[in-house]
Amino acid sequence: MQPPRIFLVGLSASGKSTVGRMLAQRLGWEFADSDALIEADAGLPVPELFRREGEAGFRGREAAVLGALALRDNVVVATGGGAITDPASRAAMASGFVAWLRIAPEQAADRLEAGPPTEERPLLAGDALTRLRQLEAARRPLYARADAVVDAASGSPAAVASRLADLYRQGAVFGGSTRLESGSPVAARVITPGGAYPVIVQDGALDVLGAHCRDAGLGGRAFLITDAAVGPLFAERALASLHASRYETGSFAFPGGEEHKTLATVAHVYDWLIAHRVERGDFAVCLGGGVVTDLGGFAAATCLRGIAFVHVPTTTLAMVDASVGGKTGVDHPGGKNLIGVFAQPRAVVVDPGLLRTLPGRHLTAGWAEVVKHGLILDAGLVASLEAAAGTGAPLMSPDLIARSVAIKAEVVSEDEREAGRRTLLNYGHTIGHALEAVTGYSAYLHGEAVAVGMHAAGRISVELGLLEHSALERQQRLLTACGLPARAPGVDVDAVVAATLQDKKVRSGRVRWVLLAGIGHAVMHDGVPEPVVRRAAEAVLA
Ligand SMILES: NC(=O)c1ccc[n+]([C@@H]2O[C@H](COP(=O)([O-])OP(=O)(O)OC[C@H]3O[C@@H](n4cnc5c(N)ncnc54)[C@H](O)[C@@H]3O)[C@@H](O)[C@H]2O)c1
Repeated sequence: MQPPRIFLVGLSASGKSTVGRMLAQRLGWEFADSDALIEADAGLPVPELFRREGEAGFRGREAAVLGALALRDNVVVATGGGAITDPASRAAMASGFVAWLRIAPEQAADRLEAGPPTEERPLLAGDALTRLRQLEAARRPLYARADAVVDAASGSPAAVASRLADLYRQGAVFGGSTRLESGSPVAARVITPGGAYPVIVQDGALDVLGAHCRDAGLGGRAFLITDAAVGPLFAERALASLHASRYETGSFAFPGGEEHKTLATVAHVYDWLIAHRVERGDFAVCLGGGVVTDLGGFAAATCLRGIAFVHVPTTTLAMVDASVGGKTGVDHPGGKNLIGVFAQPRAVVVDPGLLRTLPGRHLTAGWAEVVKHGLILDAGLVASLEAAAGTGAPLMSPDLIARSVAIKAEVVSEDEREAGRRTLLNYGHTIGHALEAVTGYSAYLHGEAVAVGMHAAGRISVELGLLEHSALERQQRLLTACGLPARAPGVDVDAVVAATLQDKKVRSGRVRWVLLAGIGHAVMHDGVPEPVVRRAAEAVLA
């Protein structure tokens, strides 16, 4: 059961009051503005209260007002931008569903400037943009603990209120590791300019795939795309579930493996779709590992200029990484993933039970991405992984998968096209990609290469004084406990260092590295001196 009250948090000008009023109306609830209630109670405007009582005095009044609201039902509360910084206010808000109306400081500053001559905002005195940036940076970890996050800058206030109402009803959580305790199978919600969709993580989800497709609003016929190894294992269950939801279906399997992730295979998929007179209103279901989700997504996104598609990932890597974020495509003789488009699925349906048949090496390799998600953004996930990996049982936990995928969802929602924060997902990938390229993409699975790359990037982080040595050791212990390699002995160091310069993340001749400043805290770093890269490469390749 969702708590019957919603607290809206976010920067000034994120629209908390306007959206809050609309949301309350939509739900048939009462609306409350905590600043207005404080002013009414004190008989003084907020700036005057700040002058007389200081921020501490104001926060005390705010916590009292929020504490009283926490006892009411059916209320939407617009809170002051800084309420989240006060522990007593946070405790009051924990009684409800907390939604972060996310807006970039620059957009907030623009809105404030374009708005009516502002009332005085005590915390924004001076250069408002600089202050907003500082406040956002300081509050972000607290805002990010919200139950839901909506992009407050895209769409009208009514549209934001409508998305928020959907999130509240679905119990959807986007961002961080704050899953609801309501048992909702929605682990995360991706919200990008290219589309918004849920990531469902649920044991047995394959058997209710049809229902999830109906929930996603998909009509027409369902065209199942899979590979020749996965099809015999799971296609029948997928088709039965689609039939149960009254979809007409067809299925197509291509030979699996990276060597078939080509335009030639896509041409076969087009032939099949077109022979069956696929229409714009139909959709594809991509059932398989990252090869199937990348290739099937690309075929769907380009056939008839794009039909809808749903991903049903069947490998660890595809569940926590490849199926979320909208990168689709195929390889070219000149390199991996060189042909493709960004296209978001309409839903991602993850059934962790499907991992039971996955060969052990693939199962393990995928955990490199889970560990990476924890290392870059979620120290809590790292701690949970340490506990789980210590048991020695094969890692298949729906909870860990859900938390990992929520991090990917959060990052791609902020940065669909990899212009900024999405780059953090490349931790371990600079040396990892180089290692894969130098060894001809055959000796190491992607996750294994990334694990070796994380060892190297961790060493670089320590050498540059960003990371404590003890944190590096912790990372190393966890990767090893997950069964991932620490080294790739015998690989040519010169070739790997040279290959890092070919990395896609090279900007104006400088490699953009992702390094660690702590467990759960990655940073981008433009250019690392070559001798430092070389020493790290030597350590992991010797
Ligand atoms: N789009 C993205 O953001 C993104 C991110 C990471 C990786 N990728 C891509 O993902 C691909 C790698 O994906 P992958 O590691 O899942 O490999 P994969 O799709 O090749 O699957 C690995 C093998 O396992 C088999 N398999 C899959 N699921 C199975 C199951 N449940 N039981 C038994 N066998 C099963 C497959 O047939 C295949 O032989 C690469 O092409 C990579 O470029 C894409």
